[in-house]
Amino acid sequence: MREGISSGAAKAVHPTWVEIDPAAVEENSRHVIRDTGTPLMAIVKADAYGHGAVDVAKAALAGGATWLGVARYGEARALRQAGIQAPLLVLGAVTTTEVDEALAQEVTLTLHNREALSLYAARARAAGQPLRVHLKLDTGMGRLGVLAEEAVPFATEAARETRLQVDGIFSHMAVADEVHPLNDLQADRFEAALRALEGASLRPRWAHLANSAAAYFLPRTRHDLVRVGNVILGIRIRPDRPLPVQYRPALAWKAQLVSCRRLPGGWGVGYGQTYVTRGDEFVGVVPVGYGDGLARVPGHHVLIGGERCPVVGQLCLDQLMVRLPRPFPVGEEVVLVGRQGAESIGLHELAILCRMTQVDCSTRIHARVPRITVSLR
Ligand SMILES: Cc1ncc(COP(=O)(O)O)c(C=O)c1O
Repeated sequence: MREGISSGAAKAVHPTWVEIDPAAVEENSRHVIRDTGTPLMAIVKADAYGHGAVDVAKAALAGGATWLGVARYGEARALRQAGIQAPLLVLGAVTTTEVDEALAQEVTLTLHNREALSLYAARARAAGQPLRVHLKLDTGMGRLGVLAEEAVPFATEAARETRLQVDGIFSHMAVADEVHPLNDLQADRFEAALRALEGASLRPRWAHLANSAAAYFLPRTRHDLVRVGNVILGIRIRPDRPLPVQYRPALAWKAQLVSCRRLPGGWGVGYGQTYVTRGDEFVGVVPVGYGDGLARVPGHHVLIGGERCPVVGQLCLDQLMVRLPRPFPVGEEVVLVGRQGAESIGLHELAILCRMTQVDCSTRIHARVPRITVSLR
């Protein structure tokens, strides 16, 4: 990630680039903590949904996050290597060597089944060091975890392993962005497990259940920590529902116009010649294609000169063609995601067009598109 260069400077260096605004992440994190009244675990897995994990983690911590969460051990390693010492939970399964690294790096692991319990206990004993874990319950997601009713026997087994330090307990919501009977059922199961653990004096310090959607729509799921990814990035919980105005997107995707030509009427554009000019038309070329992660579906628009311009013909691997209302100079800024003048294209719009999640759209932006940090205000 290049730091602090302006869009103008980026244009001199890159044909296309992604701008990340750490101040937006910092402010959004502060809003999450204030709006939910709950400490924040900032979820920065999958390179913070394509936004850049190290920059997003640092910004979320500056905004008051107390924990970080990632999916894989390699992601935790990258954060530690970047000098980030905050409490850090790996939400997914890990390998034997990763357990050894977690012991050395003071990374917290997810204890999700008996095999993991044996492995963690054996490696912690061998190292002669405590291994911090959060116990994972399956309250209805059907993914990792022991069933909620097994919480006490499982926690009892874990407590026998003196080298294991069970600091937390968590579960994950399956349909929190919808009105669905499973939401209350999952919340009930989690609360029942907590009560049973309290009764057995086994209730860990950190209980957490809520992702972005649950943190906002289901306050009873907040407990001791909310685990939020989308909203700290200013990504909507649902594509069809704007976030409150205080949240702002942390990502913009830009490019520069590399060609602008007047084509005669009846001129076919692109592979398959799916678009043919109706008369003389200005057609521009933007150096972004499906090889950069833009989904190959019809109906895309980009912003040029503050106007929405339709992408015409099929996306190529590395380029797209756009119908322009008038000629623009080569080098003109093109916005694929973000704001330009009064117009904007949000990840939610791409998600609806491409029938994908917003995170699908942001994580697909290929690594060959450089990320730079800027202020998007
Ligand atoms: C276990 C877990 N917790 C929290 C999150 C964060 O979800 P969101 O980005 O919707 O806040 C995720 C993301 O998928 C997750 O897998």
